[in-house]
Amino acid sequence: MTALSVKVDGVKYSDDVEPRMLLVQYLREKLGKVGTVIGCDTSNCGACTVHLDGTSVKSCAVLAVQADGGEVRTIEGLANGSELHPVQKAFHECHALQCGYCTPGMIMQSVSLLSENPNPTEHEIREGLEGNLCRCTGYQNIVAAVQSAAAEMSGKSLATAGAAPADETGSLR
Ligand code: FES
Ligand code: FES
Repeated sequence: MTALSVKVDGVKYSDDVEPRMLLVQYLREKLGKVGTVIGCDTSNCGACTVHLDGTSVKSCAVLAVQADGGEVRTIEGLANGSELHPVQKAFHECHALQCGYCTPGMIMQSVSLLSENPNPTEHEIREGLEGNLCRCTGYQNIVAAVQSAAAEMSGKSLATAGAAPADETGSLR
């Protein structure tokens, strides 16, 4: 067992974990943070995306001990109390989900994308989210949600941001 000390969603945790334990397992099984989901376990789908020290990572591709001394943010720490993060709000308002399984990872990756590029083009959004798979293929509304969140976060209206219509499905590319 290896000692692990990590801050998750603002709370500090100290645990002894097996060196082979994945970060996603630690979050779900030890901390009960089941909002972070496992879609593939092989770093393909992005459903398990969280932020580690401010950068989005696929938590099934990171060992828990690699987060030692670091700070993790999960979907469960994204809202400010009862106030949803603008990206969460936009996913809700744009109906950017069907079964919802990919949603936590999509939102975490979108937040990360917007922190690096606050005003992405549609192409940049699709490129930024290409590591996250939606098996319901609801990509069109996901892109519209990111555009809407970008507009809200930069104080622009949707009309001036040129958001795409949110009524189609399709692939990211
Ligand atoms: S569960 Fe981690 S990428 Fe699919
Ligand atoms: S909404 Fe079902 S996998 Fe994306």
